[in-house]
Amino acid sequence: MTSQSLRDVRKYEEELERKTMDEARPKFHLSARVGWMNDPNGLSYYKGEYHLFYQYHPFSTRWGPMHWGHAVSKDLLHWRQLPAALAPDADYDRDGCFSGNAVVLPDGRHLLMYTGVCLETQPDGGRREVQRQCIAIGDGIDYEKCPQNPVLGEADLPEDGCRFDFRDPKLWKKKDGTYRCVIGNCTEERDGRILLYSSPDAIHWKYEKILAANNGRFGLMWECPDFFELDGKQVLLTSPQDMIPQGFEYHNGNGTLCLIGSYDEETDTFTEERDQAVDYGIDFYAPQTILAPDGRRIMIGWMQNWDTCNLHTRERVWFGQMSLPRELSIKNGRLYQKPIRELEDMRGEKTEYENVRFKDLIELEGVKGRRVDMEVSIRPGDEQQIYRKFAVRFAQNEECHTSISFRPYESIVKVDRKHSGSRRAIIHQRRCFVQGRDGRIKMRIILDNFSVEVFVNDGAYVLSATIYTDTAAEGISFFADGEVEMDVVKYDLI
Ligand code: FRU
Repeated sequence: MTSQSLRDVRKYEEELERKTMDEARPKFHLSARVGWMNDPNGLSYYKGEYHLFYQYHPFSTRWGPMHWGHAVSKDLLHWRQLPAALAPDADYDRDGCFSGNAVVLPDGRHLLMYTGVCLETQPDGGRREVQRQCIAIGDGIDYEKCPQNPVLGEADLPEDGCRFDFRDPKLWKKKDGTYRCVIGNCTEERDGRILLYSSPDAIHWKYEKILAANNGRFGLMWECPDFFELDGKQVLLTSPQDMIPQGFEYHNGNGTLCLIGSYDEETDTFTEERDQAVDYGIDFYAPQTILAPDGRRIMIGWMQNWDTCNLHTRERVWFGQMSLPRELSIKNGRLYQKPIRELEDMRGEKTEYENVRFKDLIELEGVKGRRVDMEVSIRPGDEQQIYRKFAVRFAQNEECHTSISFRPYESIVKVDRKHSGSRRAIIHQRRCFVQGRDGRIKMRIILDNFSVEVFVNDGAYVLSATIYTDTAAEGISFFADGEVEMDVVKYDLI
């Protein structure tokens, strides 16, 4: 039985959606049905479709009491919104249904595991969120919260575990039919770590151990963990809050960390070998991955950044969008990301140029648009004297543009949206250090109305950013300081 408050939400979102059908939106990136969206939740494959839930506040474009929005897709690019799946309507989640994940049970039902939040008044009069894990089981549309809820709480934390930061379960089924789950937590001093739990049936859970601990290295609390095998290695993704940059590798604030290592399943021991940032742009956080039926590991993140959420305008009915689904792999110990290959089925008209030599500003006939898949390959026009800077500008009109630039002497790729029309004093630039190759670089740039994602050198580095420039700003131009030779292959995405 759905609750009255969930029925009210469903009615509200349907009516508002109907009234605002014409609103400009991303074309193939999932955005909030109405109101606010943050983290992807419950990314799973169920009854022949991908299901993607999301942190959702339908009643405004600001964060508020968290619901779970819900959408389905056959290809992770064309989405159909479904009615909201969860509302904060139970005792144990009355102040929010926070992030979580999903599995398909052996009996064919779909199980969601999420964090139930309750505000608790503290001795000093302040209010803090107590966070516990909960379950809801359903048929892909309607979900019933379990009578056993909450299934994990304070009593299931290690000794110094903070009960106000205990969230974002990611569960999976092991080959032997039992379940494991990783959950974000921190010590009372807010030092992040990932806890491991086990269960015979995905409902009754038992604390196992601290799977990975920060020990002061990467930010404070660790949110939204994911843990999976990839190309013979084991990967732990987590999104630390309050990071401090380490060179160009991590940036201030919230970001996503990738730890690559090995895993001994017998003893549940994760041994870290390397760490790297997952996205070097402005907007990417809290990703989840799925093992697709064909064996690909695909990741989707929230294409936003908590510190730059003021970039919305009052008029829009939606705020928040997901990143492009990205196929993951490991090469030479690094996490690589590529746009999901289904995107190639959306390619329309092709425009191609080879060996274009230039040393100032140029435009190319047929190269424009806001829904674009474009790869540019750059090399020095003069090997004796490598150019100083190359840039692509897009979402461009008389007043606005956003750019991606590359400075070969510094080996820095930069995304810069300060001229995108934003009136807010927030982060508008970010830099990424790329392994230099004598002024040679490849950048695949995906534009979708309100975003840019750049995959550098076949996905060794990715930079994502949202832009809210008027969608009529379709210009693309190329700039060089010094002589550049360039190939361009550009498709309209339809
Ligand atoms: C990450 C996060 C999660 C939490 C959710 C609340 O962006 O803070 O840790 O579950 O958002 O909306």
